[in-house]
Amino acid sequence: MRIVVAPDRAAAAQHAADIVERFVNSAVATALGIATGETMEGPLAEIAGRCQRGALSLAHTEVYLLDEYVGLEPDDPCSFASTVNRLLVQPTDLSPGAMHGPNPHNPDLYAECADYERRVRAARIGLQLLGIGTNGHIAFNEPGSSLASSTRVVQLNEQTRSDNARAFPDGTCPPRAAITQGIATILLARKLLLVACGQPKARPVARALEEPVTRSVPASALQLHPDVTVVVDPPAAALLADEPSQPCRPA
Ligand code: F6R
Repeated sequence: MRIVVAPDRAAAAQHAADIVERFVNSAVATALGIATGETMEGPLAEIAGRCQRGALSLAHTEVYLLDEYVGLEPDDPCSFASTVNRLLVQPTDLSPGAMHGPNPHNPDLYAECADYERRVRAARIGLQLLGIGTNGHIAFNEPGSSLASSTRVVQLNEQTRSDNARAFPDGTCPPRAAITQGIATILLARKLLLVACGQPKARPVARALEEPVTRSVPASALQLHPDVTVVVDPPAAALLADEPSQPCRPA
């Protein structure tokens, strides 16, 4: 596991975008796993900017969402599909048909989860972007999730709903349920890239990276993967005891 402490949030976004750029340029066709949330906005904006300047092309990339809320209207701007469409499809040359996610409006969600699991496995994700919840979740695998879990419908815990309320209009609560790739699904990706910024991430980052692997901290499953890069800013790195393994250039 490589741990990179970037000088600040902007530098963390640039460093993450550098890793995505190298990955996208490494092959003729690539499958990129995308996380959403506040932390990902910087890296996704950086990637979109590089595409707009002609420095990067996503024309041969397929992107796969990690998770999606259940219970929003199909065109709700807070859905993860709408968010990735706004941040990555519209401003780049990524084809709209190249964005894949679970369909939370399928009346048979059990079949939908099985189908999305099959599609993600068939895609062979080369690089998976990840954020971490303040409760240690990855994707929407909340504490207590099996490390062997696959794509499924989950109930979001109250900490997650309260953290994510900032992305919803005033007075609107995030849904109670979501579809998420499982921990075992995520671990199938060839490379994992976790980005965490801000003081609220310090404790979950330290528990995930430096304490024993446990289903109480789903992100600790990253310790089981052979190719993980973690990019953190200084507040998120504050409780790490180990030295960072790689320097980072300033923004
Ligand atoms: C969302 C996802 C979540 C977020 C995590 C961090 O697709 O996978 O695990 O990455 O909740 O969210 P922020 O960055 O908003 O703190």
